[in-house]
Amino acid sequence: MKHLIVANWKMNPSTLEEAKDIFNQVKETGAVICPPFVYLSALGANGAQDCFYEDKGAFTGETSFLMLKNLGVEYVILGHSERRKYQKETDAIIGKKIKASLAADLKVILCVDRISQIKNALKKIENWKLKIGNLVIAYEPLFAIGTGKACPPERAEKMRVAIKKVLGESVLVLYGGSVNSQNAKDYVAKASFDGLLVGGASLKPKEFIDIVKIAC
Ligand code: PGA
Repeated sequence: MKHLIVANWKMNPSTLEEAKDIFNQVKETGAVICPPFVYLSALGANGAQDCFYEDKGAFTGETSFLMLKNLGVEYVILGHSERRKYQKETDAIIGKKIKASLAADLKVILCVDRISQIKNALKKIENWKLKIGNLVIAYEPLFAIGTGKACPPERAEKMRVAIKKVLGESVLVLYGGSVNSQNAKDYVAKASFDGLLVGGASLKPKEFIDIVKIAC
């Protein structure tokens, strides 16, 4: 089975030149690459790290779901724990972003570290079941993000099973949190995740290509 691999570059790198260098090395992998907004056009990347729920207007500093859609972006990460922490995003705000993105036929990668975040975010989206094919869940345990302390696969698998129980077997569930080429196989083979959300290691082209090879 082919797995979905997503690269979350976060707020890296610092120059377009470096971004192009990384992108050119990994673009053939078939992975979803999510660079910072400022590099999206120049790279023609297929993923973004966030979006705003209004289509346009007086929302200084925001980037709308519609702008992403019109740029040809296919996937948007929403509800990442770093946005929950630093931008104080709540499940209600994330829910609005999911609703707007799904309505525009963007594919949403919703990041969670517990089931209640899924339930709360989907609470006000009446028709999410109709869009389930465009909803991907990334299970990212807080302790594992950017720490080098990946979650034991057996423990992660329990969450994968629990998420599928809530949303149905057809929903894709990814694992994220300190994924590298050493542990990637544990999550897709042992713990049967449908793919991986890779942060730090996605900025190292060789390592990332290895992860994709191992997981696909
Ligand atoms: P990490 O980040 O791979 O650096 O732990 C994962 C993420 O935050 O999506």
